[in-house]
Amino acid sequence: MIIILLGAPGAGKGSQAELLVKRYNIPHISTGDIFRDNFKNETPIGKLAKEYIDKGQLVPDSLTNDIVRERLSAKDVSNGFILDGYPRNINQAEALDKILKRFGWEITRVINIATPLDLLVKRISGRRVCSNCGAVYHIENKKTKHEGICDICFNPVVQREDDNEQTVLTRIKIYEEQTKDLIDYYNEKGLLSNVSGITIPQTDKEVVEILGE
Ligand code: AP5
Ligand code: MG
Repeated sequence: MIIILLGAPGAGKGSQAELLVKRYNIPHISTGDIFRDNFKNETPIGKLAKEYIDKGQLVPDSLTNDIVRERLSAKDVSNGFILDGYPRNINQAEALDKILKRFGWEITRVINIATPLDLLVKRISGRRVCSNCGAVYHIENKKTKHEGICDICFNPVVQREDDNEQTVLTRIKIYEEQTKDLIDYYNEKGLLSNVSGITIPQTDKEVVEILGE
């Protein structure tokens, strides 16, 4: 099963991916998470990517396509995977098509999380992430059991550095200019399904109706 999660910044891609991982037991591949891990580990890729991420811009396609190609060469993807935040423009979608073709794989479904734009800034400004394991919370919609502490690994939860208002507005603008085109790209291939993105359980229910238990 190969699932692509499309959606604006803050639409809930990471949150829904977490639920899909548990249900289908396949890995969650988020290019944003890969870049942040690289930055945490002070790799050259991490340092380069951070220059773009901090401004809310896309990391160059050539680098992004390379890291996805490498990630998809790992053994754990043999039963499928969930892509979150990749592809992000037509150029990346075409690069992905080539990678999939080479492995003889086909996309099962592209799920577009169609969260209304006016909810995005509130979602992102209230988001907290675990500084250790990256688990995602929200100060109103998905609270930690103990304030400021991750439920899973008990480390402090923090705000992502690119979750400030200026960067968020740039991220949404880039989504509108580049990523939204992917809705038509996958719709024309007959692969697209839309879900509402309103609450996490409701969105999950809609996703299960599309993909099956
Ligand atoms: P990335 O990390 O992918 O960020 P993003 O696309 O901006 O998306 P987010 O992670 O902000 O949102 P999300 O949709 O995952 O929402 P979440 O589930 O956390 O990318 C970061 C940067 O890396 C990019 O700006 C770019 O620079 C670079 N990058 C990454 N991929 C790249 C690529 N392919 N090419 C080039 N550059 C790339 O939810 C948000 C909040 O809302 C949470 O607090 C959550 O609890 C809450 N919430 C979620 N769903 C719901 C719901 N249904 N109801 C209520 N609350 C909800
Ligand atoms: Mg995310």
